[in-house]
Amino acid sequence: MTVATVDSVAEPRFQVAVVGVEPVLESRVTRLLGKQATVEAITTLRQLRRGPEASPMVVVLGASFAGPEVLEDALRQVAMLPTTGAVLLIDDDDPHIVRRAFRAGAFDVVTSGDPRELEAAIKDAVDQLSLRAAVPPASQGADEPGLARLITVFSPKGGSGKSVIACNLGVLLAQRSEGPVALIDADLQFGDVAVMLKLSPQHTIVDAVSAMHRLDVPLMRSLLDTHASGLLVLAAPREPAFGDQVQSSDMHRILELLRSFCSYVIVDTPTQFSDVALHLMEESDHLVLVAGMDVPSIKNMKIGLQTLKLLGTPSSKLRLVLNRANAKVGLDVSEVEKTLHLKADALLPSDILVPQSVNKGVPAVLGFPKSGFSRTLSSFADVLAPDLSKRGRKG
Ligand SMILES: Nc1ncnc2c1ncn2[C@@H]1O[C@H](COP(=O)(O)OP(=O)(O)OP(=O)(O)O)[C@@H](O)[C@H]1O
Ligand SMILES: [Mg+2]
Repeated sequence: MTVATVDSVAEPRFQVAVVGVEPVLESRVTRLLGKQATVEAITTLRQLRRGPEASPMVVVLGASFAGPEVLEDALRQVAMLPTTGAVLLIDDDDPHIVRRAFRAGAFDVVTSGDPRELEAAIKDAVDQLSLRAAVPPASQGADEPGLARLITVFSPKGGSGKSVIACNLGVLLAQRSEGPVALIDADLQFGDVAVMLKLSPQHTIVDAVSAMHRLDVPLMRSLLDTHASGLLVLAAPREPAFGDQVQSSDMHRILELLRSFCSYVIVDTPTQFSDVALHLMEESDHLVLVAGMDVPSIKNMKIGLQTLKLLGTPSSKLRLVLNRANAKVGLDVSEVEKTLHLKADALLPSDILVPQSVNKGVPAVLGFPKSGFSRTLSSFADVLAPDLSKRGRKG
């Protein structure tokens, strides 16, 4: 086993342990990570001793760990160590091994032939470990039913990608969470969550409102549709006219019930600051604000942010997502951040596979998990729900 300590300039920032692989890998990893890395060889995972304050460590497991049980056992040992995550190196891209590795909590799986992929995987893992370490325990999510954290996705500009982001985040969190995760389509006139997830819901939010006087947890549960990922969905009304029947007091009760048995509740919203939307924003732990990279979007976001400030929304819960952020449209991310006085938490690339996956009704994170869009959203999900990041996934 080999341990590489990576240094930013002087102080080591994180460590990399390389286990059970050919000796050349040690020098390869050192070369990959440049001067920042120190490499130390050890023979077994049991030799690793890590205090709770230790800097993040990535364990690179060699192909010999891909065998049945050995892999699960090694990943279990890694999972026991504080601020430590694992990346598995394999000889061939065998989907069966990849699935097993992710299920058992690997941060990433890389084919041994590609050094750049390995470097990216190690750095990604370090970012996630650092992120996790930076989040104080009190604000770590709630992978425990009854303490659901509320994530509302909003944009003051139509068509900016709210529903795509809400659906994909919902699927990611549902895949990762032990407890139930629910997605409410609160775009009460033109909600399209059901279409994006290819669901044909038997019930909608209107049924919850009609039964409000007797709405309890079992009834609430019976009104939810279940997506293949495990995500529970409360669909929007079938017709725009029905949307008026939902008041913010109804939404309050619906949220109260969902939060009582879910770990996470995500809400997709309309473009307007409706009473219901404002209520949701107020109750949210994270308010995800989506802006496109065009002047009208940024102008509306600026006005929207001023409104939120006037309403007393704490800036600590704002999470800015710049969608189609790679599009060469003459707007620079740093200029946008300066204009909005807000740092972007995610830069989602524009990708044709997004509308393709919408049209198929298969969220991009399921249909194209390795795409830049899905990877970025996956890292963003780590920001929103650090307790569910890869190591804690149920698979
Ligand atoms: N990163 C992206 N790359 C390519 N297309 C995207 C991206 N994000 C969103 N889209 C496309 O933009 C369209 C609008 O997205 P979406 O419906 O999620 O926006 P919205 O904000 O919910 O819109 P509305 O205001 O109508 O509710 C969709 O067809 C979607 O496929
Ligand atoms: Mg929408």
